[in-house]
Amino acid sequence: MATDIDRKTVEKAYARWAPVYDLVFGSVFDQSRRISIDAANRVGGKILELGVGTGISLAGYGSRTQVVGIDISEPMLRKARERVVHEQLAHVLGLAVMDAGNLGFKDASFDCAVAQFVITTVPDPEATLDELARVVRPGGEIVLINHISAESGLRASFEHWFAQRSTQLGWRAEFPFARIERWIGRHGGVRLLERRNAPPFGMFSLIRIGRTGETGGRAA
Ligand SMILES: C[S@@+](CC[C@H](N)C(=O)[O-])C[C@H]1O[C@@H](n2cnc3c(N)ncnc32)[C@H](O)[C@@H]1O
Repeated sequence: MATDIDRKTVEKAYARWAPVYDLVFGSVFDQSRRISIDAANRVGGKILELGVGTGISLAGYGSRTQVVGIDISEPMLRKARERVVHEQLAHVLGLAVMDAGNLGFKDASFDCAVAQFVITTVPDPEATLDELARVVRPGGEIVLINHISAESGLRASFEHWFAQRSTQLGWRAEFPFARIERWIGRHGGVRLLERRNAPPFGMFSLIRIGRTGETGGRAA
């Protein structure tokens, strides 16, 4: 059984999820989304929301931020566009179909990049993290909120079993923190600022990664 994810599978999965996504994944992820939005608002300025989906978080960013959202799924983005119009979200600068592993932005374009429940859905998480580090300015932050898999015990066994079935749904169930730690160690231009459990029941993790290097002002 396949345990990895490719772009076609993800696009197919989210085309199916789009009409019911907010109903199924709205409130269950809400508290965790709020925590990551608050972290991004503390950085402020230009914010990239990666895998913005139906735009469920967009209204939460402060009115003094400027937000750009990207997603690989056109049906999910369509919902986000409707939301921006309907809720008159003037701080949303743009929404675009784009692959997280190949972002069409210049280096250091953003003060902060946020990925909520996305890093386990992309085919190559390390390439995506490389891209996030590239487009965030030195002194800026990458904010991730995600399910991080257990490394041992009953939950780890369940996640291993579920991983073999979950890719068709559009995400990978197994994603250990060690993978992010290894990427941080290898990259050289980032450092871990915070990792903490997030609700409900500490099921998710907030991970804040700082972009190191000279800290200038805001992203241009
Ligand atoms: C679980 S949903 C999360 C949506 C939203 N961030 C939220 O909090 O509900 C994952 C999103 O990531 C998007 N996605 C998956 N792979 C992607 C990629 N390679 N590039 C851009 N977006 C991607 C999916 O289309 C989907 O909208």
